[in-house]
Amino acid sequence: MKKALIVYWSATGNTEKVAMALKDGLVEGDMDVSLFKTKGAEELDYFDYDLACVGFPVYHFHPPDIIVRFLKSRFDKYQKEKRILPCCPIVKGKNALVFCTYSGPHSGIDEALPAVKYTAQFFIHVGIPVINEWYIIGEFHGREDLSTRGKLGDIRGKPSAEDLDKIRKDALKLVSKI
Ligand SMILES: Cc1cc2nc3c(=O)[nH]c(=O)nc-3n(C[C@H](O)[C@H](O)[C@H](O)COP(=O)(O)O)c2cc1C
Repeated sequence: MKKALIVYWSATGNTEKVAMALKDGLVEGDMDVSLFKTKGAEELDYFDYDLACVGFPVYHFHPPDIIVRFLKSRFDKYQKEKRILPCCPIVKGKNALVFCTYSGPHSGIDEALPAVKYTAQFFIHVGIPVINEWYIIGEFHGREDLSTRGKLGDIRGKPSAEDLDKIRKDALKLVSKI
């Protein structure tokens, strides 16, 4: 059985819903899935999994500090083990997925891109290719103005049940790439 790790963080529930839909799709694809809301994942090794997934809400075009701390502590460990090599040679059979939820009130997806690209480098540098990046629109809870009059229009209720069903199906498709 192939193994997947999902580490995510979520304050208002959007990313958590996506993480659960991702898990459902991977389980449907017969993967053994371990899911953590960061807590408990600190000592885990990406290399013990066929697929490592990290997900977060975009905060000021970045991942939230809790996710950055998580990524950096893993990275420091790999650096000590001398696993960060020039030209990032690929470690066969290892894959990563980076996903975010974002509201894009000011500049749309351009606000989310830096956060995901930055996170992807933590995998790419250790030789784990990022086989997909998911950018999921999520309501800006507590900010009706930013959920109705932002660059992405009326995003209240997102991710919707339909969005989550698509995520589950996309996760299932992902299994065939691993
Ligand atoms: C402090 C804060 C900063 C945010 N900054 C951004 C941002 O720069 N760009 C963006 O698109 N959304 C931003 N958002 C919106 C969240 O990324 C979005 O609503 C996300 O789906 C929330 O995920 P969660 O429900 O899992 O916490 C911000 C939200 C908060 C609370």
